[in-house]
Amino acid sequence: MRGLILSGGRGTRLRPLTYTGAKQLVPVANKPILWYGIEAMVASGIRDIGIVISPETGDQVKQLTGDGTRFGAQISYILQAEPLGLAHAVRTARPFLGDEAFAMYLGDNLIQTGLEQLISRFEVSQPDALILLKRVPNPTAFGVAELDATGQVRRLVEKPKEPPSDLALVGVYLFSAFIHKAIDAIAPSARGELEITDAIQSLIASGQRVESLELAGWWLDTGKKDDLLEANRIILDEQVICTQSGEVDSESKISGRVCIGSGSKIIRSTIRGPVIIGTNCSVEDTYIGPYTSIGDRVILKKVDIDHSVVLEGANVSEAGRVVDSLIGQRAVVRSHQGVPVAHRFMLGDDSVVEL
Ligand code: DAU
Repeated sequence: MRGLILSGGRGTRLRPLTYTGAKQLVPVANKPILWYGIEAMVASGIRDIGIVISPETGDQVKQLTGDGTRFGAQISYILQAEPLGLAHAVRTARPFLGDEAFAMYLGDNLIQTGLEQLISRFEVSQPDALILLKRVPNPTAFGVAELDATGQVRRLVEKPKEPPSDLALVGVYLFSAFIHKAIDAIAPSARGELEITDAIQSLIASGQRVESLELAGWWLDTGKKDDLLEANRIILDEQVICTQSGEVDSESKISGRVCIGSGSKIIRSTIRGPVIIGTNCSVEDTYIGPYTSIGDRVILKKVDIDHSVVLEGANVSEAGRVVDSLIGQRAVVRSHQGVPVAHRFMLGDDSVVEL
């Protein structure tokens, strides 16, 4: 079985952060979101992985992710010239996929559980599509499934105004080669995209077997700031177990699970985990509270920050209290007189804020 990860598209919902970067490369616990999908595939035994990229951000994805050696996989990059939909991405990847069955993972999705259960169910029951569903409070934002009384998928609709259920389509799918025929049979949707949801619906309509599994663990579509912060919180909570390293002076206090990268210096600061700090950071007279990820080469001075993600090269100085924030690469936040109020930021790469 081959793997296909979709990392093209425009990523408009994470703007301004993704004016300059691929949304799939935004880090969660200091690791690009995209890599979680690659690791899940490799852990389930998939070694041949194709990643769909866009002309705008493809080079960044390639450069950071490489040829797959670091994951124990072989990665091929597939250029999708325009973001014409998930089914269009599959069509573009057809030469890579050949006639093999494949697992498809949306590069901005994160799921708690691995793919093993899904793959073994697919291999045993051999449907043409196996989809993952999860109950959500806001089904209009997703593809939505309607099941019949026996639990069979009756109908799928993409982002319906009046959802037939609260069962959203999770961005992880398994397909037989039959999906290519279904994609050839569909037309672009109202938003001008070839929807994978419509292709699966067309499988159902032509009598092919489409099965579903309800996902037990958590699922996050990291396309928006709050989802990204939530993903960061959950991953820090569940996966970060490092003991600190880096340089911590005797006036600093570290408690809970904290990772500090090499070359980073912590001076007169308090850190309460779970927290991850990248390499070559400088943290001075600062409080870093739980669920915060600090990228490489970040400078924090006289800040009180928690439940936030700060990307590499950012500089946040004398900014008072910063909560629930996403601060882009190389962004600068500074103040001339200490500011005692709380702030909530969503700052793109290279922004400058003076308080
Ligand atoms: O997150 C789950 C949802 O993902 C499903 O419930 C929906 O049924 C499905 O259509 C999809 O909806 P989104 O609107 O969230 O998809 P988005 O445009 O965010 O694209 C998902 C990923 O695929 C993202 O990493 C970008 C990539 N992509 C997207 C398009 C439109 C491509 O690689 N090529 C594309 O043409």
